[in-house]
Amino acid sequence: MVQLAEKTRLFQGNGTFPTPIPQTDCSSRDVQMFLEKIVEQPSLHAKFLNTISLLEHMGSRKILVSQSHSRTSESVLQHAAEEARHAYFFKKKIRLVDPSVRLQYQKEDLFQGERSAIYFQRLDALVKRNLSKEPEFDKQKKSRLNYLYTTILIEIRAFDFYHLYNQVLESKFIGFHLNGIIKEEEGHLSEMIASLNLEDPRFESRLEGFLIKEGKFFRNLFRTWKSSIKE
Ligand SMILES: [Fe+2]
Ligand SMILES: [Fe+2]
Repeated sequence: MVQLAEKTRLFQGNGTFPTPIPQTDCSSRDVQMFLEKIVEQPSLHAKFLNTISLLEHMGSRKILVSQSHSRTSESVLQHAAEEARHAYFFKKKIRLVDPSVRLQYQKEDLFQGERSAIYFQRLDALVKRNLSKEPEFDKQKKSRLNYLYTTILIEIRAFDFYHLYNQVLESKFIGFHLNGIIKEEEGHLSEMIASLNLEDPRFESRLEGFLIKEGKFFRNLFRTWKSSIKE
């Protein structure tokens, strides 16, 4: 049975599971160095925050669109509400790092916005494709599992990434932290793990396959992010 443990690369010494697949060119140190460059430039940081806000907003919207039906549970509503609040949180912090800008979700207001959104869409498509090969799942079950798997992949990555981002925000004295967000993402992750343990007998092997692909998608995105800040 997959259990929630200390999941991130920060704690990888414990050999716990699940964890993002480590990539040679986007190690914790690479991500940290990238984030340090980002936060040192207020206009760039503002766009980066706006992009994270967009991804959180997409998450919330996707939950509401795909999981709205007569059996919509309290936990689904809570999850969508919290992701919407995360989108608002990151949007609001833009004013703190660069009071001169008012950013919308337009191309010029984002940091590699299109590529970042594609990362999200690719995960969704990957899960959809995999589940479509399961004849025993009906439409509603597929939609539910799609929500759970897409979310768990994003949560594992977000949990890892937000920890690193939080450390950089603290070390560079940026004036805000992500402790509350990290706690909520951890709550979502526990919930997805508990639900998938119950709802998919092939959870562990399916997740393992998905994590390998997610690692590739994130590495591609990270390369694009990194290349766009090279001097
Ligand atoms: Fe979130
Ligand atoms: Fe979340």
